[in-house]
Amino acid sequence: MKALIVGSNGQLGRALAATAPADAEIVSCDADTLDITDRAAVLAMADQVRPALILNAAAYTAVDKAEQEEEQAHAVNATAVGILADAAQMFDARLVHVSTDFVFDGSSGIPYAPSATTNPLSAYGRTKLAGEGAAGPDALIVRTAWVYAPTGGNFVRTMLRVMAQRPEVRVVADQIGTPTYAPGLASALWAMAGQGSSGIYHYTDAGAASWYDFAIAIQEEALAIGLLDHAVPVLPIATADYPTLAKRPHFSVLDKTSTFECLGGAAPHWRSNLRIMLKEIKAHG
Ligand SMILES: NC(=O)c1ccc[n+]([C@@H]2O[C@H](COP(=O)([O-])OP(=O)(O)OC[C@H]3O[C@@H](n4cnc5c(N)ncnc54)[C@H](OP(=O)(O)O)[C@@H]3O)[C@@H](O)[C@H]2O)c1
Repeated sequence: MKALIVGSNGQLGRALAATAPADAEIVSCDADTLDITDRAAVLAMADQVRPALILNAAAYTAVDKAEQEEEQAHAVNATAVGILADAAQMFDARLVHVSTDFVFDGSSGIPYAPSATTNPLSAYGRTKLAGEGAAGPDALIVRTAWVYAPTGGNFVRTMLRVMAQRPEVRVVADQIGTPTYAPGLASALWAMAGQGSSGIYHYTDAGAASWYDFAIAIQEEALAIGLLDHAVPVLPIATADYPTLAKRPHFSVLDKTSTFECLGGAAPHWRSNLRIMLKEIKAHG
């Protein structure tokens, strides 16, 4: 099976390459090799590669910056997804696209099902929701959340850095979601794509946490394996005490029932995957 990965240098892009099934022949394109907003370039690449799968790991992911650059974010997160969908249709490929928990407003008290009402609070969320529409009904669309990996910009790496440098760390305690380890998400995408699934699904690790809980766990697990050499106080704060340009949902736990049925089992708990990721950093830097 031939697969074209676009946005291959991001957290998910790298994880997709690392977890590809043995029978997959992969062509990986990073942002320099293939700008997915360039329609002619995307169609030419699809024509050249003739993939059975187009896996879209490319996105404009700077959530706060998107408030001031919604047009640029829309170009990557929505218009370009339409281009990928056209390429998939023209060359008989399946598009696998990834969306976000930020399509929800966070007012629910129970996990969001794939069919739940969307109402993004941010420009990023609006562009990602538009991207779901642009991907079309034949695509496999998987919403995820709080993604982290051993490389790339993410909360775990930020916490490790600030916990090593600062006398104390303040972390938002009133936003609840689920941390998600990129390789687990990538494996799920391969498995679901292999089954020919289409439509909207949710995938995160199992469990739920606030950013504060996540930070506490990062410190505990990092201390346990010597990745941090001293503890610092981690203090819970309210979202109101940490103003950001973009509004974020207070609760964005996703209901993964349909996905786990498809996969034949649940994802690992987020804390187990956190341990794996920290050991990976410890082993490889
Ligand atoms: N990270 C999260 O917490 C999170 C949460 C929910 C959903 N998601 C979704 O999960 C998916 C993967 O996210 P991620 O964390 O892997 O993001 P990431 O690490 O920021 O990677 C995104 C990649 O897209 C590339 N890219 C940006 N514009 C492009 C363009 N025009 N053409 C081609 N490539 C382009 C970037 O390249 P440059 O860096 O060179 O610009 C980067 O390598 C995205 O759809 C994201 O919306 C992420």
